[in-house]
Amino acid sequence: FLYAELSQALLNWYDASGRDLPWRRTQDAYAIWISEIMLQQTQVKTVLPYYDRWLQQFPDVQTLAATAQQTVLKAWEGLGYYARARNLHRASQMIVERFNGEFPNNFDDAMSLPGIGRTTAGGILSSAFNLPLPIMDGNVKRVLARLIGLTVPPAKALDQLWEISAQLVPTDNGRDFNQAFMDLGATICTPKNPACLLCPWRTSCQAYQHNQQTQLPISERK
Ligand code: ADE
Repeated sequence: FLYAELSQALLNWYDASGRDLPWRRTQDAYAIWISEIMLQQTQVKTVLPYYDRWLQQFPDVQTLAATAQQTVLKAWEGLGYYARARNLHRASQMIVERFNGEFPNNFDDAMSLPGIGRTTAGGILSSAFNLPLPIMDGNVKRVLARLIGLTVPPAKALDQLWEISAQLVPTDNGRDFNQAFMDLGATICTPKNPACLLCPWRTSCQAYQHNQQTQLPISERK
């Protein structure tokens, strides 16, 4: 298949069918960072009220950095995985000290912050600065495993999957492409009962062609 055609088909689908989510209405890297950390282990519908409250309480990096850790943890209450909140707090202080209070606009500096790995850095920097960086969360692994008919568990083919994600992200539209990619996995290419007939990648999808969409991806346990 041709990467450029797949990318364009997904962008067209996203224009018509993408979700309207609050972190997609801003280009404030701080707000986008907060959303991506909350979304790491928590569902969108749970994150929504926390995201709004957080930005009311801590509207910028400086405010967060100057807040007592106990207050920050209190605002996180109910989201779980509290290391995320401690990392956000520590990272906000590093951003003030090292990056002049501005969330970094490049991959290496973003990766130097606690709580930010490769996929979170790609998600934030593509959304905030439109950089063409690949992402690789659970949704993206499932979509790609089906697309290419991957015959091993995704965890065994991560280098290959990252390479495909990098080939797919358009140089001029990392922002919409990565958001579209996540939506495809969340709303069409779901773990159970994927809505293949609505999928913009259907005609290229190896799993769909061979009616293997409910067999793939291969479970990590096997
Ligand atoms: N999961 C992780 N990042 C996300 C985003 N930006 N939008 C929706 N779901 C997500």
